[in-house]
Amino acid sequence: MSEIQSVVVVGSGTMGHGIAQVCAHAGLRVTMTDVSEAVVAKGKAQIEKSLAKLREKGRISAEDEQRTVAAISLSTDPVAASASADLIVEAVPERMDLKLDLVKKVSEAAPAHAIVATNTSSLSVTEIAGVAKDGTRVVGMHFFNPVPVMELLEIVRAMQTSEDTIASARAFAAKIGKKPIVVKDAPGFATSRLGVILGCEAIRMLEQGVASAEDIDLAMELGYRHPMGPLKLTDLVGLDVRLLILDHLHKELGEQFRPPSLLRQMVRAGRLGRKVGRGFYDYPDVNAPKK
Ligand code: 3HC
Repeated sequence: MSEIQSVVVVGSGTMGHGIAQVCAHAGLRVTMTDVSEAVVAKGKAQIEKSLAKLREKGRISAEDEQRTVAAISLSTDPVAASASADLIVEAVPERMDLKLDLVKKVSEAAPAHAIVATNTSSLSVTEIAGVAKDGTRVVGMHFFNPVPVMELLEIVRAMQTSEDTIASARAFAAKIGKKPIVVKDAPGFATSRLGVILGCEAIRMLEQGVASAEDIDLAMELGYRHPMGPLKLTDLVGLDVRLLILDHLHKELGEQFRPPSLLRQMVRAGRLGRKVGRGFYDYPDVNAPKK
């Protein structure tokens, strides 16, 4: 089992910047990459905002904050960065074509001992491992939003994944302060398969006029003690992300995952949730054009 000291995170969006942050905070050297300098700089600004929040709450010290920021380098070349990595975590959009292309390239550039992890929410890790130079070193590492706060790391075992890779993934989870579960590579794994069905049903209920968005959310917050209702959570995750997951699960698992037309219409209208300032709710603090 190889110890992980140097991590490349590909993608600096909602999940990617959170993953880079927790790795750097745990003392690992991190390179965060994205398609342009402007995009990756935006991801870094999000990390700084999150660290400042944690410092203000007394969860981390000012030294910790500075050390974490200093441990993160930025790049626009994930393939070159992977040449000296122990672990590469891909957190690019939930599209199989993007993931296959990237995993093929980074696995060819990476050292033989390196692990290539995919943060996919639902796609086949076995299919992704199929294009890698060494499929035994590929694993699913599914993180949860907001990454610095959520304790779970869902480790997904592809058909090709070796026991040694699973052991390294478990040790990595412990190092970054996450609790791992290990699941078989099945569509939506143990989390998304259950999580999106609740969000999907809540959107159908809104469509059918069963109750207002606020009341549907309150029902689950007060009646079931969920920390946030399913519509607020869909805004947090991103309506576009949930639609991609549902389209995939609908194809793989059947009718119960058919995306509600309201969700598809909202995505077409650009109402993607909190990140753009508008979803099922409005977020006036977010600087983005309202659609
Ligand atoms: N960085 C650092 N700290 C953060 C943060 C961030 N990005 N976001 C929230 N926090 C901290 C807050 O500072 C606060 O700290 P405190 O406990 O010391 O006061 C704590 O988290 C709670 O935050 P708030 O007080 O602002 O608000 P809440 O109490 O409502 O908690 C929440 C916010 C943690 C998001 C909570 O509502 C929650 O757990 N919601 C459910 C989240 C969830 O289900 N995530 C999974 C989504 S599915 C997914 O990600 C999978 C993917 O594949 C799509």
